[in-house]
Amino acid sequence: MNMQQLLNTIKSLLAHDKGLLAMDESVATCNKRFANLGIPQTIDARRAYRELIITTPNLNESISGVILYDETIRQHTADGTSFLKVLNDVGIIPGIKVDKGTEELAHHNGEKITAGLDGLRDRLNEYVALGARFAKWRAVIIIGEGIPTQGCIEANAQALARYAVLCQEAGLVPIVEPEVLMEGAHTIEQCSEVTEKMLRTVFKQLYLQRVVLEAMLLKPNMVLPGLACAKPTSEDEVAEATINCLLRSVPAAVPGIAFLSGGQSSEAASARLNAMHVKFKSRLPWTITFSFARAIQQPALEIWRNQTSKALAAQQALAHRATCNRAANRGEYTPALE
Ligand code: 13P
Repeated sequence: MNMQQLLNTIKSLLAHDKGLLAMDESVATCNKRFANLGIPQTIDARRAYRELIITTPNLNESISGVILYDETIRQHTADGTSFLKVLNDVGIIPGIKVDKGTEELAHHNGEKITAGLDGLRDRLNEYVALGARFAKWRAVIIIGEGIPTQGCIEANAQALARYAVLCQEAGLVPIVEPEVLMEGAHTIEQCSEVTEKMLRTVFKQLYLQRVVLEAMLLKPNMVLPGLACAKPTSEDEVAEATINCLLRSVPAAVPGIAFLSGGQSSEAASARLNAMHVKFKSRLPWTITFSFARAIQQPALEIWRNQTSKALAAQQALAHRATCNRAANRGEYTPALE
């Protein structure tokens, strides 16, 4: 492992109040989002959409790195330039999703385990040769009747740790993503309890597998009530619950925390991130930022809908969300920016 190289990548990813853009939807997930909007689910449409994203003017003013998918990291723009060259030319660091999605955890009542450890070392080496500098692995935890179980939490935490140490060995910064889903009627307190338990277990496993905490990033969910929870929650309550949970469970050696958006509205994600910075910045041992997919892309996707004539407007919407989130990282986001 070249430690300095990993630290340099992290420093660049976290510099200047910028954040990450997750554009690493699997083919199945991307197709699902396309189908919802009547966009053809073809490799050509996916390529055109991803080209639109990475060629967005001034994206690099707010975005330091993008997370790509196996299909996307190998693609080219219509004029034949590789996506990786387009990104590198504007100083955006390319990363890659390396998990193979979730499957049922046997005998666990619908709980999930993330696949992809078999053959991972070889795949990581290939991605490094292609030009990726960081990676992502997502574990999914569901809150429901009698779940999550300890068995599910530990199995996913161990997989995250084994992935992370293989990344460091290969020279990639691991982004460790344990996502507690928003689906359900749970309260913010229940989300906090489950998130804390998951994070404590993840960091125990990272320690056991000898992951260098200084050379990784964490990508957690914000602590939120479930989508079906009736009780309203303010931005300040979310900020407080999230930061208190992270302060209790994430070692100060971790350099950065980049939140996923998880199905929140774009505006809510920006406002909540902003509240964390406004209320807590001086108390935080780590840099906090965003690594959103839906909360940055969704407005742009809804404008584009596979129409070339809408590409420019879609890019403006994408850049706007990126700008709002960078403002949030400075504690300068207000609804007036919308
Ligand atoms: P969302 O921001 O849409 O939750 O996606 C983030 C991500 O990378 C999920 O793995």
